[in-house]
Amino acid sequence: MRTSRIEGFYKLDIDNRLELVKTFCGLEKDEINLLKEEGIPLEDADRLIENVIGKMEIPLGIAVNFLINGKEVLIPMAIEETSVVAAASNAAKIARVKGGFFTQSTDPVMIGQIQLTGVKDPYNAKMTILSQKERFLEIANEKDPILVKFGGGARDIEVRIIDTPVGKMVITHLLVDCRDAMGANAVNTMAETIAPLIESITGGKVYLRIISNLATKRIARARAIFSKDALGGEEVVEGILQAYAFAFGDPFRATTHNKGIMNGIIAVALATGNDTRALEAGAHSYACITGKYLPLTTWERNEDGDLVGTIELPLAVGIVGGATRAHPVARTSLKILEIKTANELAEIMAAVGLAQNLAALRALATEGIQKGHMSLHAKNIAIMAGAKGDLIDKIAEIMVKEKKIRIDRAEELMKEFS
Ligand code: MEV
Repeated sequence: MRTSRIEGFYKLDIDNRLELVKTFCGLEKDEINLLKEEGIPLEDADRLIENVIGKMEIPLGIAVNFLINGKEVLIPMAIEETSVVAAASNAAKIARVKGGFFTQSTDPVMIGQIQLTGVKDPYNAKMTILSQKERFLEIANEKDPILVKFGGGARDIEVRIIDTPVGKMVITHLLVDCRDAMGANAVNTMAETIAPLIESITGGKVYLRIISNLATKRIARARAIFSKDALGGEEVVEGILQAYAFAFGDPFRATTHNKGIMNGIIAVALATGNDTRALEAGAHSYACITGKYLPLTTWERNEDGDLVGTIELPLAVGIVGGATRAHPVARTSLKILEIKTANELAEIMAAVGLAQNLAALRALATEGIQKGHMSLHAKNIAIMAGAKGDLIDKIAEIMVKEKKIRIDRAEELMKEFS
């Protein structure tokens, strides 16, 4: 049976890891070469941004062991930080004991904002705008027949009155179902299209017409149960609950808690060519939408004494358009994930965020974060010295015990064991 549960993936060399991924999701030879060697061609990079002089490469790893809604998934993660991929894989292994991750998401609806100023009677203007809703939706949708054809399009209008240093403003929100696109282009175009009509029916002046990255209508959620035994016992569960309570009560801690979550989410976003800044901005402002900066996850103990985790956050990601299609590595990452919709990608990212948080809290509440870092670092040094298979762990363990995690010591040990 096909499974993402792979023991000792890290001990394989890169070719063997690629072979496993290839068998798992049917990668072609050119896709393998692309991952190993080529990356994005310089001419394509030159079209993606301006003033290109080269490429900045980041390692692409695979998180293993993920079971999401009963489906086995291998997860590509692009990140420069040690431990993140290993931690996600480890948490996913623990989650499997109780069935893995279960996810859901709202429709992929984004908000376009239109800023109206200079109206004397803002509440009256609000009513006027709302009374023309059908007209607005019609002209917005005429601008993007392709999106409409694929089942998306402008869906609704909301109007808010806000207080600002220069007086009240009337902010219209155009809600657009972006389907598999992140949606910035579609939403911005539609917002620009309806702006003149807003001006003409209210007599005010429109300035900004732009998407909001606080994507409260595009939410992804995940939950998982982590068995207390698989976690290491009741004390570990208690430690994680204490860590969560700390984050709940203190924004200094909550920020780091959420940073750990975003380690996983952003790594998948980068691997799939998504806009990481939009995601970070949305996640952190969602974390303080109640007026208090809070953790993006919740942790509870259930009747069996197991740990239950949930996560909920806006995840505006796409699988069409922009770098998701223009970057060949992003295309290959999407192939590895075997997803068909942007919602599926967002849900996988939510599961990875939850896994990442569990792994961080478990380490922090028990042995501390450094031990795991050190042992991974030692394994990397052992691999650099040429160790393969079980020898990697053996050499790493000795170096950690001796507190001598150095390439010269790893080379000495290699000689001893060969
Ligand atoms: C490090 O990149 C992430 C952590 O600091 C997250 C956390 O403290 O929860 C380990």
